[in-house]
Amino acid sequence: MRIATTSDIHIDINGEIVLEALCARIRAVKPDVLIVAGDIATGATTFLTTLLALKACAPHMLVVAGNHDVWTSPAAVAKGIDSWAWLDKLLPALCTEAGVHLLDAGPTVIGGIGFAGSLGWYDLTMREHLLDAPMEAYRTGRFGGLMWNDHRFAHFLDADGKHLLSEVVAERLRDRLQAHLDSLSCSRVVVATHMLAFERQVHRKDRPGWRFVNAFMGSLRMGELLARDPRIELAIAGHTHIHSDQRIGRMRALVSPLGYAKEWRAPDVAGAVEKALAVVDL
Ligand SMILES: [Fe+2]
Ligand SMILES: [Fe+2]
Repeated sequence: MRIATTSDIHIDINGEIVLEALCARIRAVKPDVLIVAGDIATGATTFLTTLLALKACAPHMLVVAGNHDVWTSPAAVAKGIDSWAWLDKLLPALCTEAGVHLLDAGPTVIGGIGFAGSLGWYDLTMREHLLDAPMEAYRTGRFGGLMWNDHRFAHFLDADGKHLLSEVVAERLRDRLQAHLDSLSCSRVVVATHMLAFERQVHRKDRPGWRFVNAFMGSLRMGELLARDPRIELAIAGHTHIHSDQRIGRMRALVSPLGYAKEWRAPDVAGAVEKALAVVDL
C-alpha cells in the first residue's frame, strides 16, 4: 500500500497556487491513501474546497484536524460554536460532504491496515522546566512580547462554558484515540496526530520565545500511548513546521509538513510541495 502524507498546508494563508501544486504532486506519486495531518485551512469554505481538490487526487483520503482547523471566534463561541463544535460537528460534516474520512471521528480499515488518528493537544509535558516562565505564562499563552494564538482562537469549553485546561483537552483526546485503537482488530496500524508525541520531534533552540512555544507542541503522554501499541508501524504528526523522520522503538515517526511559504527553503512552490509530500510504501 502506498501512503502519501503531509501536514500544515494552511491553504487559507498559502493560497490556491499551493493547492494546485500539491494536487499535481499527489497525482504524480499515485498513492492508495492520502493522509493530511492537520492545519489544512481555517474557515469552513476554504477547508471544504481544499478537501474536495485533494480528494480528487487519491482513492482514499484521511485527515486529522489541526489546531488552526478548530479555531473559532468569541462571536461564534457565544452562539455555541466552540472548538469542540468544530471538531465534533462542523469538520465531520465538511469531511462527509467531501468524501474524506476524518480520523478524529473514528478509525477505518483499508486493505487490512487500520488507520486511527487525533488532533491531539498539548499538556505542557514538552515545556522546558529550566525556562524562567511562570505557569501563568503557559495558562495565558503570553510570555515577553509573545502571544500563542491558540489562546485567542482555540476555545475548548466545558458544559458550564468555562475554558478547559489544555491538559484536560489533551487527556480527553488521548482517551478518544485509545478507544479508537482498542476498537481496531488489525495487526498493522497507522496513526496520525496533529500534535507531536515524542521528545525527539521537538526542536530545542536556545531562544526564549522558541523555548516557550515548545510547551505547545504536543504531549509526551500521547507518545507513551503510541509506544504501548505494538501494532503501530507508522506514526505521522504535524504542527511543528520542521521535517523529521526517525525510528522510535518499532515505529517510524514521520513529520512532513509544508508550513508557511516564508519558511520554505525550496526555491519554488513545486520544490516545497515535493519535499513536503512524503511517500511511504507499507
Ligand atoms: Fe501548522
Ligand atoms: Fe498546528
